[in-house]
Amino acid sequence: MSVKTLQDLLDSGVEGRHVLVRSDLNVPLNDNGEITDPGRINASVGTLKALLDAGAKVIVTAHLGRPKGEPNPKYSLAPVAEALSEALGQYVALAGDVTGEDAHERANGLTEGEILLVENVRFDARETSKDDSEREEFAKELAALAADNGAFVSDGFGVVHRKQASVYDVAKLLPAYAGNLVNDELDKLGAVAKDPEQPYVVVLGGSKVSDKLGVIEALAEKADKLIIGGGMCYTFLAAKGHNVQESLLQEEMIDTCKELLERYESKLVLPVDLLAASEFDSAKAETKLVDLDSIPEGWMSLDVGPETVKKFGEVLASAKTIFWNGPMGVFEQEAFSKGTAGVAQAIIDATRSNGAFSVVGGGDSAASVRLLGLDEDGFSHISTGGGASLELLEGKDLPGVAVLNA
Ligand code: 3PG
Repeated sequence: MSVKTLQDLLDSGVEGRHVLVRSDLNVPLNDNGEITDPGRINASVGTLKALLDAGAKVIVTAHLGRPKGEPNPKYSLAPVAEALSEALGQYVALAGDVTGEDAHERANGLTEGEILLVENVRFDARETSKDDSEREEFAKELAALAADNGAFVSDGFGVVHRKQASVYDVAKLLPAYAGNLVNDELDKLGAVAKDPEQPYVVVLGGSKVSDKLGVIEALAEKADKLIIGGGMCYTFLAAKGHNVQESLLQEEMIDTCKELLERYESKLVLPVDLLAASEFDSAKAETKLVDLDSIPEGWMSLDVGPETVKKFGEVLASAKTIFWNGPMGVFEQEAFSKGTAGVAQAIIDATRSNGAFSVVGGGDSAASVRLLGLDEDGFSHISTGGGASLELLEGKDLPGVAVLNA
């Protein structure tokens, strides 16, 4: 059976009906609690606007960070409600609880074309419980917010890989539809997962090899080249016998990296030079471009160097399909952002000059594109999903999508 879409719901008529929408509004915040990249909020606007314009009473559920199943002001959706109001051009009320009295009263009080955001769904431990019956109980409370004749729209692509109450269980309790964002992401990423035009080049960064082991193995099978940078490359470099000094290292993964290097020798592409720093904070650090065996004692590498950017760029130049997940260095600090910016630019160039279909996956890589002032239109698609886009490309079943097919 195919997934029912937002258009199907709109066609069935939503005026005056409560529609519960699961969005992924999990945006990065700085130490002052300010949103540093509103990408996911902006990407969620289309579906919400379509429902509001059609006269639905919209109730949005979302999470922020990983509070441990209890209310915590640090993870309140208050800044998100404000930013969403701005992005939508309409007031978004925030309930003081998730499925409590305030949420119910506010949901009941909505009129056509009004929108309510309930508090962080992860303030309730049942949201992420491994116990099916606990999740189901919470899902019933969420579904009850949409009262009689309600509907559910799954639009949080970034969480469809999570078997959680507001993503998975609730979809069994109300007529369920895929929102425009989820649909679009499945379309674009699905094309890369199923039938990538070759040469297919994958660029992976990010801090931990262990987090991405499954992805590395799955993508190394499918891709023609797998470029590895970012924090995870140091474990690979150590596996090749280089002394990475104080750079990020997962010692317990060195043997696994050795095996991968042997198995995929012709596919894996690693850095050839690095930007070493005497300490992590660029305001205090001395820095030096070095080759792989010359990181000064006690220093760490925090970015790839210009020769690496050139080498990666040469591989990317002939690609017809590109998937990029994970920054090449500590891009949040300007001094260590050139590797990420250079590789991102090489992907844009391949998209423009070689007609490559390029997809940016992952919160951090998407945020880095905006933070570094790169041209977002230079990529074919910027995904809102981090883990979700990787799991999709790995070929895994996404519970939040499977449930819509059921
Ligand atoms: C993300 O940031 O990738 C999504 O919002 C999912 O968040 P999670 O990894 O905390 O489940």
